[in-house]
Amino acid sequence: MNAVTPRYPHLLHGGDYNPEQWLSYPEVLEKDIELMKKAHINCVSMGIFAWSHLEPEEGVYDFSWLDRIVARLYENGIYTVLATPSGARPRWMAQKYPEVLRVAANGVRNAYGDRHNHCMTSPVYREKVRAINTRLARHFAGNPAVILWHISNEYSGACYCPLCRAAFTDWLREKYGTLEKLNHAWWADFWSHTYTSWDQIDPPLENGDGTLHGLNLDWKRFTTFQTVDFMKEEIRAVRQMEPSIPVTANLMGFFDGLDYFRFGPELDVISWDNYPLWHNGDNLSVAAFAAANHDLMRSIKREPWLLMESTPSMTNWQPVSKLKRPGMHLLSSMQAVAHGSQSVQYFQWRKSRGSFEKLHGAVVDHNGEGNTRVFRDVAETGEVLQKLDEKLYRTRVQPQAAVLYDWENRWAVEDAKGPRNGGLHYLDTVLMHHRALWEKGIATDLVDMTMSLDRYKLLIAPMNYLYRAGFSTKLRRFVENGGTLVGTYWSGIVDETDLCCLGGVPGQGMMEVFGLWNEETDALYDGEENTLLPEKDARLPENSYRVSELCAIVHDQGARVLARYGRDFYRGTPALTVNDFGKGRAYYLAARTDLAFLRDFYEIISRDLALPRALDKPLPQGVIATRRQGEKQDFVFLQNYGEEEQTLSLPDGFTDALTGAPVSAVSLPGFGVAVLCTTGTLAE
Ligand code: GLA
Ligand code: ZN
Repeated sequence: MNAVTPRYPHLLHGGDYNPEQWLSYPEVLEKDIELMKKAHINCVSMGIFAWSHLEPEEGVYDFSWLDRIVARLYENGIYTVLATPSGARPRWMAQKYPEVLRVAANGVRNAYGDRHNHCMTSPVYREKVRAINTRLARHFAGNPAVILWHISNEYSGACYCPLCRAAFTDWLREKYGTLEKLNHAWWADFWSHTYTSWDQIDPPLENGDGTLHGLNLDWKRFTTFQTVDFMKEEIRAVRQMEPSIPVTANLMGFFDGLDYFRFGPELDVISWDNYPLWHNGDNLSVAAFAAANHDLMRSIKREPWLLMESTPSMTNWQPVSKLKRPGMHLLSSMQAVAHGSQSVQYFQWRKSRGSFEKLHGAVVDHNGEGNTRVFRDVAETGEVLQKLDEKLYRTRVQPQAAVLYDWENRWAVEDAKGPRNGGLHYLDTVLMHHRALWEKGIATDLVDMTMSLDRYKLLIAPMNYLYRAGFSTKLRRFVENGGTLVGTYWSGIVDETDLCCLGGVPGQGMMEVFGLWNEETDALYDGEENTLLPEKDARLPENSYRVSELCAIVHDQGARVLARYGRDFYRGTPALTVNDFGKGRAYYLAARTDLAFLRDFYEIISRDLALPRALDKPLPQGVIATRRQGEKQDFVFLQNYGEEEQTLSLPDGFTDALTGAPVSAVSLPGFGVAVLCTTGTLAE
């Protein structure tokens, strides 16, 4: 297994450090070093928003302040994650070259301000970024302190300027070749929107064309393409000097605007910024969502990854910025590690004195000392990471199950009109299926339609509305070769250009794989329900489950019926089926169920498939187990997301990962976490 940062192959504990804000406070650096050592900090991310200090005037570069800080930190055992500064640009640049600023969806160019406010196409902006990245890379080449490139910051958003419009048109020409093909793919004859020349193409402007689903979908694809293209140029500039330093970009989990799977091949390491809404009244759901985000980020490369940012206490941008309760900092940090992170990093090290984030949580508060609760929590986390480092570093999460989550599918589902404009809840549905496995301690990847499915025994594809080109063939092979597929209602409706599949749903031959035909789909009002009634041999423990929102009305055509609807005119028709196909089988869940059903359903399937669990015993309410596998031993993380203490006894063979002492029972206080080692590994 490759180290994520080969120059310093250890669990990282660090965070965003913005010393350029403190240059006129010379005492701060030495104080920071003293406190960093106390908090077991071994790396910091610098330069993320430092462009105006790195290039104070056009073409005038000054890295001397950064040199001094990088060196001083390194002398003290603190490594540098070095950023490219493209996330925010100096004022002089926007003043001289207005084209670097972004044009909003209303077609109006933004004024200077904020950050991430730039055009990804602008040749001037690309040139300025290339120049500074190249200088930085040349300057720091061979510097042993630098372990990782942090490319830009949280890429996001789209630009609607004439340059982007032209790039979009070029991208479409390349993709479709002729206007006939484009008109067909977008079904542009509808409402007479037929294109008769390429220069008629506009992005979906707010006051323009919003009803061509194919256009909307392609615009989102293009936005990802252009962002990745911009990122590739940034990466080329830094890699040319020292290719051995890996590159990452900090992503944002399920963020809707970009298809992050397209970032995977360009980055050496995936990292992401995690800000859960802890203490909102339902910590287990918050933890389930964080877990799914971690799993998604890990799945992009299916490699160990980095938690690039998290807050040591509170944020300042959530509706209510709550403090982390005692225990939560270590618990939430260990959750990331349990899901494969090789780091715990923060935004930010020292609270800014002024401006937008002065009230955002940080390791060092405005009092400037290490005597705060938050600081002690961070120091404790650093100490734990240090103790785990040696053995844990070589372990990883190795799922045999995956849930399909695909950005293009999400965009298409959410853009469609009908059948439930009040909410189709694609993401919630994906999360609910993932959660049912997570609660059981079953490791799960989240993959999109382009990823290989070979390594999985179980693939769950909720609301797989759109089939990307070739995907139905891949699914069919997966089942033929022995895989178990769980499909649901609202699947196989459209092809990759968002044109409805002809000849029956689920389309593209999937009726045969599922052994059924989905003739109609009923939409239910909020609060309205139907029931799913299991057949006697279905092995489901309850005799009735609730279903809501969407109910597919299907005809079994070879599939075995495991449950039927209990109400309405389609009462008695199949609500759950299974079809043997090739060496595998395909389940079809015809309606949106709740979590209670999924827990029971996946209990049966996971036992049938012998999917390994982090800890194969019933866990107390609110306690979750997660496992990282090693060559000789595994690590099991027991996490209590409840406020009450929970105890559980363990089978033989567990030791405390921090002390090495054998353990036969664990008692977890509210928000407590225990890390255990096994004597063998699941892989055996
Ligand atoms: C994001 C950014 C950081 C900071 C934090 C605040 O993750 O990358 O620069 O603004 O949010 O939570
Ligand atoms: Zn633009």
